[in-house]
Amino acid sequence: MLITLYSLNKYYRMGKTNFHALKNINLEIKQGEFIMIMGKSGSGKTTLLNILGFLDKFNSGKYIFDGKDVSNISENMRSEYRNRYVGFIFQQFNLIHSLNIFQNIELPMIYNREKVSAEEKRKRIMSSLEAVGLGDKANSYPNQLSGGQQQRVAIARALVNNPSIIFADEPTGALDSETSRDIMTVLSNLNKQGKTIIMVTHDEDLTTYASKVIRLKDGQFLTEV
Ligand SMILES: Nc1ncnc2c1ncn2[C@@H]1O[C@H](COP(=O)(O)OP(=O)(O)OP(=O)(O)O)[C@@H](O)[C@H]1O
Ligand SMILES: [Mg+2]
Repeated sequence: MLITLYSLNKYYRMGKTNFHALKNINLEIKQGEFIMIMGKSGSGKTTLLNILGFLDKFNSGKYIFDGKDVSNISENMRSEYRNRYVGFIFQQFNLIHSLNIFQNIELPMIYNREKVSAEEKRKRIMSSLEAVGLGDKANSYPNQLSGGQQQRVAIARALVNNPSIIFADEPTGALDSETSRDIMTVLSNLNKQGKTIIMVTHDEDLTTYASKVIRLKDGQFLTEV
């Protein structure tokens, strides 16, 4: 099992009270699955994704990642796990507009402690770009690309450290339906090459791409998984 959660709870501090955002979540995810997380706004989807992707902590329960208990790891270890195992894609692409495409994709490598020669770096960046069909855009700037192309760059950036999991929080939320399908094709191909994909979406039509759909309501799973 790649990921196992046991009775995980997450509270957000709201002044003097706590908001119970995730309630006794149990979950198992295998390497190579394509999971979609659905549910109304505020149901806890992003909260769950951020915890699974080592961006956020939780209050009780257990998180086992690749056989190791990562429930109480330090902030440093969390960023280590993030760099080594995880790529993130967001609705708003989150590209840096003052950097060109090559430099945007290079960013996660700068934070990676692995020693990589300049030539190897260039190769990895170009092969990530080619994997999303944008090998000719290395010198362009984000504002010279369409929304769909910018999201492809964000996918290339997520791929550059060769993660085993890609987390995508509404990656098609800002795109029209045709461009959304292009992005889904890219994600689907990555999944076929062995990447585990965990994606949040509001779009029922996209669930055909998933190997499993998880539905959240008020911080709880609607269907037991
Ligand atoms: N930093 C925070 N502090 C306090 N409450 C928060 C915080 N982040 C999220 N919440 C609350 O936790 C609940 C779950 O939020 P979350 O962002 O996970 O929802 P979501 O399912 O991703 O919604 P959306 O579809 O709108 O993105 C919401 O009620 C939200 O208001
Ligand atoms: Mg969200």
